[in-house]
Amino acid sequence: MNTSISKPPIQKNVNLAPFNTLGVEATAAQFLTISESSQLLGLFREGFFKKNDPVILGGGSNVLIKSDLNQPVLKISIPGIEVLNEKEDEVLINSGAGVIWHDLVSYCVDHDFGGIENLALIPGTVGAAPIQNIGAYGVELKDTFHSLKAFIPATGEQKEFSKKECEFGYRDSIFKNSLKGEVIITEVTLRLQKSPHQIEDSYYALREYFQTNGVTEPSIKDVFDAVVTIRESKLPNPELIGNAGSFFKNPIVERSIYQKIKAEYSEMPSFEAGDGKIKIPAGWLIEQAGWKGKKVGNVGTYKNQALVLVNHGGATGEEIYQHAMNISESVKEKFGIELAPEVNVIS
Ligand code: FAD
Ligand code: EPU
Repeated sequence: MNTSISKPPIQKNVNLAPFNTLGVEATAAQFLTISESSQLLGLFREGFFKKNDPVILGGGSNVLIKSDLNQPVLKISIPGIEVLNEKEDEVLINSGAGVIWHDLVSYCVDHDFGGIENLALIPGTVGAAPIQNIGAYGVELKDTFHSLKAFIPATGEQKEFSKKECEFGYRDSIFKNSLKGEVIITEVTLRLQKSPHQIEDSYYALREYFQTNGVTEPSIKDVFDAVVTIRESKLPNPELIGNAGSFFKNPIVERSIYQKIKAEYSEMPSFEAGDGKIKIPAGWLIEQAGWKGKKVGNVGTYKNQALVLVNHGGATGEEIYQHAMNISESVKEKFGIELAPEVNVIS
């Protein structure tokens, strides 16, 4: 059967500044917007993926573009939210990869489907959410993830991945490891709960918020509102100041390393990370190393959150990258801890 396949238009020499939340100026030699998954098959049949190794872009909120890009950029803009299967207590929701993540969260809260309200206001698209198993306020994508569909550029096939096959971890998945650059996610399906909901409010900032506001039995809408308020107070709005959220992951260390640092810095915050290991907030380490709110040239760290690198205007990708490396070297020198970038560096 030969179904009609539309071709995405190819734009040349596109400025990527509006397409990355760090606001870095860089030019893409070619830029294609994918609005339906069949367009990927169309490109495959023309030999596009044999000739090119494209950069896949969603909302550009977790990338650092270091230089102009000679390879084409494919911006994934596949729309659509659909209820696949509704039962008495749960529902399967399918979303196109190009849907804005926060729009999906709002849709679910409006329909009283629970499970992703703690992930409100995370920028970017649904299709990128599995790449690093997005997480915030005590919840990760994996907690409600059912499956995803992806296009495989090497073979032209469409493949479904179960939760197990995605190998999710803290800010991690198979798509950042053995399948890095090998799949283009086109759809994601989540399994959400209908009322009565299980509320996750154990994260310290949420507990504090509900205590201060006298909320004893929060609904999913209360959690959604609280997360939005907390995030707006802590994190810079990329529309006002360029940033990509946490630049580094929080390091997870052996208990003995934690105890050594804790002996000197009794106020150091920490979280149990399973297997006897401890997660130390990178923001605290960076602040202790003297970088919080500090500006160097066009780059700096955010005044309320040292883990967020900001572009004060006109910073190049290379400048931001160098600044990040300087921060990580000084944390290594002071604490002996290596910071791994969370942001995907593209060059
Ligand atoms: P992009 O930045 O466009 O891409 C990220 C990576 O995914 C790239 O490697 C890209 O190639 C790949 N990719 C994108 N789409 C696809 C696709 N369809 N198929 C295959 N690969 C793809 N993250 C959290 O986990 N928790 C937070 O609390 C959080 N807070 C943030 C706050 C701010 C202010 C900002 C700016 C960022 C924050 N982030 C957070 C990071 C970011 O929002 C997430 O990583 C988000 O999932 C990135 O989505 P995106 O569409 O912008 O992806
Ligand atoms: N802290 C400092 N100084 C700072 C920043 C933080 O001392 O400059 C301390 C805080 O006081 C707190 C601890 O570090 O005791 C944790 O801070 P916060 O609650 O702000 O969370 P985080 O660990 O810095 C992580 C995620 C965020 C996510 C929040 C909420 C990572 C790398 N970051 O930040 O995700 O929104 O928790 O769950 O895991 C992102 O991934 O881009 C992101 C923003």
